[in-house]
Order: sequence, then C-alpha cells, then structure tokens
Amino acid sequence: MSATRKTLYIKTYGCQMNVYDSQRMRDVLNPLGYEPADSPDGADLVILNTCHIREKASEKLYSELGRLKAHKAARAGDGSGMTIAVAGCVAQAEGAEIMKRAPVVDLVVGPQTYHKLPELIAQTHRARGEALETEFEPDAKFDALGPSRQNDGPTAFVTVQEGCDKFCTFCVVPYTRGAEWSRPVDQIVAEIRALAASGVREVTLLGQNVNAFHGEPPAGAEADGPWGLAQLVRHIALIGGIERIRFTTSHPKDMDDDLIAAFADTPKLMPYFHLPVQAGSDRILKAMNRSHTAAEYLDIIARLRAARPDMAISGDMIVGFPGETEDDFEQTMALTRAVGYASCFSFIYSRRPGTPGATMPGQVDPDVASDRLQRLQTLLGEQQRGFNASQVGKTLPVLFERSGRRDGQIQGRSPYLQSVHCDGPESLIGQIADVTITGATQNALSGHLAGNTASAA
Ligand code: SAH
Ligand code: SF4
Ligand code: F3S
Repeated sequence: MSATRKTLYIKTYGCQMNVYDSQRMRDVLNPLGYEPADSPDGADLVILNTCHIREKASEKLYSELGRLKAHKAARAGDGSGMTIAVAGCVAQAEGAEIMKRAPVVDLVVGPQTYHKLPELIAQTHRARGEALETEFEPDAKFDALGPSRQNDGPTAFVTVQEGCDKFCTFCVVPYTRGAEWSRPVDQIVAEIRALAASGVREVTLLGQNVNAFHGEPPAGAEADGPWGLAQLVRHIALIGGIERIRFTTSHPKDMDDDLIAAFADTPKLMPYFHLPVQAGSDRILKAMNRSHTAAEYLDIIARLRAARPDMAISGDMIVGFPGETEDDFEQTMALTRAVGYASCFSFIYSRRPGTPGATMPGQVDPDVASDRLQRLQTLLGEQQRGFNASQVGKTLPVLFERSGRRDGQIQGRSPYLQSVHCDGPESLIGQIADVTITGATQNALSGHLAGNTASAA
C-alpha cells in the first residue's frame, strides 16, 4: 500500500499492555503512511490510548482532550485537519459517552479492535458518529496484526494473554478487556522470532493474568490440550537470540508447580517476579475476591525462593479498601515485612463505578487512607533501597539499552530490572555484559564493566 506521508502521535497511559497496543497501532498505521510525530500539536492523527484503572487515570483523558481542542481548531483553520482517536480501556468502558461528551473526538476504538483503525479512520473522513468500535474479538485482532513489528531496542513486550475472569471487587479490567483468552503458541513464537531477528534480546510476555495462559499448542506438539505458561516459556527459551524472558502480571491463584519449576530449570527466565497480593488481611482479601489467603501467598513466595535462591519479588498493594481497619492495615504491613519486596507499587483504593467495591459499606476516609499509604510507602522505600544496596559488590549481567546521560556512559538493566549505568562503549548497546556494582540509590545502580578498573560515579 503506498500513501502520502502523514504524522501520528500516540499518547499511552496505563499498563504495559497499553504500551504493547500502542506499538501495534503504530504498526497497523505505518502502511498508510503514518510516521511518528514528536508532539501532538502538529500531528495529522492523535491517538490517546487510555487507562481506566483508577479515577485519576480516567480523568486524564478529558483534560488531554481539552488541550487538544485548541490544536485541532488551529489545524482546521489552516486547512490541514487533525483526527483524534480515543483507544484503550476508557474507550471500552465509556465509548458512547466520550462520543457524546467530547465532539472533538472523531473515533473510539477498544483494546480488542484497533486492527480496524485504518477502516475507522476512512469512515471518519466520511461521517463522524459511526466510528465507535468496541467489540471483544482478540482472535481476529491478532490474526490481522501478523508477526511483523517495528522494534524499539533490545527489549520488547509481547502480549500472550488478554482479559480477566477473576473479578476482584475493586477492578475494572474484566469489564474493559473482556474474558481470559490466550494466543496460540505458534503465533507468539512467530512474533518473537521476528523480534529476535531484528535485535531483540529480552521479551516480557504480557497478560492481565499471564499465568492463566493456556494457548493452542504448536503444530506437531506431542501432548494434547493447551499449553501452560511454563511450557511456553521453555519453548521461547529455545529461540536463537532471546537471552532473557520475563512475564507479567501473574495471579497467586494461577501459580502452579510447573511455573515455579520453570524458574529453576530455565536460566533465561529472569529471577525477578511480579506477584501482586493487594492486602495482608484475609478478611480484606476475601472482600476483594482475591480467592487466596495471606499465608497461601507467603507459601508461594517461599517455594519460588526455594526454586531460585536469587529470586527477588515485586508486587502491588491497595490501602483503604472498604472495611479496612487499622488492624487489617497492620496485617498488610506485616505481610510486606515478611516478603521483603525488591520493589512494590502501592495505591489508595479508588472507587470505580460498576464494580462491587464501589457500593460496599465502610468506605475509608481519604485522610486515613493517605496516612496508611504513606506508612506503607515508607516501608517499601526502605525495602527497595536495602535491596539495591545489597547488590553493591556483586557482578550482575546487564542488558545495555541506550547511551547514558553523560558522555561515554551506557545504560541498561540488571536481571532485577534495576537501571544500571557505567562507562563503556556504545557497541555494547543491545548486548549483555557483566557489571561490577559499586553504587546504589533507591532507583538505580552504578558500577564498572567487569574487568575494567575505572569506576563510574
Ligand atoms: N491483573 C493484575 C493487575 C491489574 S491492575 C493483577 O491481578 O494483579 C494493576 C494494579 O492496579 C492492581 O494490581 C491493583 O493494585 C491496582 N488497582 C486496580 N484497581 C484499583 C482500584 N480500583 N483502586 C486502586 N488500585 C487499583
Ligand atoms: Fe483486576 Fe483482579 Fe483481574 Fe488483576 S486479577 S486484572 S486485579 S480483576
Ligand atoms: Fe489501565 Fe486497562 Fe491496563 S485499565 S492498567 S490500561 S488493562
């Protein structure tokens, strides 16, 4: 398909799945002549890929649309025009309302239908109002996308699983992303092979419940029935060029023995694992419909550490869920101390319309919730600094991703996703090299290439 050159600006909010989707939207639009623009101001097409997870995340859409309105008017004035699309989870949840409330929006597309962007854009050039597409059809989407992708350096996200059937009582994802669905193994492998051929060394397999993965096995596989995530990981480890594998986000309920074993038998699977727990009180876990207890979560962590002694854990926590007492919160603090997180996100509960939590009795006073968040974050900050400091003196393999801020410096990631910088040649970008760690802050490590004596400050 040949096309005149047009510019595209995609703004991405929310989780890694949205980052992946934004890259795939760019791939879908590339054959139409759309090339990336640095800012939305002068772009022919602006896509806001939105997140619905917390109230603040959702509100960002309407404030951004307010800003874009002026740019669109300016471009209408000089005859160049601007098409504005809303994609992602707010689009899925509130598509019709967005079309009604924000006339500046030309089209709305959900997370499972963005492969239809070319026809939707063509449609908006005929008439606004019809361009709302929020069906759930992940099969059709991935079939339409195909394996070929532009890559953004040596690491890549690859969605392998979509949707969620867990219905935690605080969460909108089952409503915005639809039911759990897994991609066929061959389709995933084709995408990762193409990425490896273009220089990708690390893949992060994505899914809202990635460890619930149960994909159609590859053609010719011996065993019947779908493959679990552990089988998929071992299979990907065989792809030439792929040196590191990660996956996120997992649910404690779907942690099976085979997946724990994969951490022991697959060295390419990185020893850093994101396993959100949300709370430490069994009463609150039950009200959240998490379907496991605090002790069961701690048992999984212990088994992971037994399988892989160098394992580090990250997580997510919510404070101020309806009914949470001081005692419940203390149990969250106790669980946090028991785990010792390398890193952990923590949030104040946000009441999401349409979820069961929104109408539960005992909504927590915002001041009480922020006080709890502060106490939790103080503890998590100490844990993260402590974990980073414990790397000093060690030699870690670092996958270099880009040049550093200072001349002669290069920057990459440790197995634990810590940002690492050191002096070194740019020729190492895209490769893994050992770095002896000499310094640590809460957010980054520094050191020197193993064998080099000169240390980067
Ligand atoms: N599927 C993943 C995470 C999805 S959302 C999982 O099951 O863990 C990412 C994180 O956002 C969640 O882990 C949770 O900590 C947080 N979150 C989700 N809904 C929220 C809400 N209503 N209020 C506050 N935090 C929320
Ligand atoms: Fe949301 Fe729970 Fe599903 Fe995670 S498992 S996406 S928190 S409903
Ligand atoms: Fe947000 Fe949707 Fe991801 S609600 S966190 S962008 S799945």
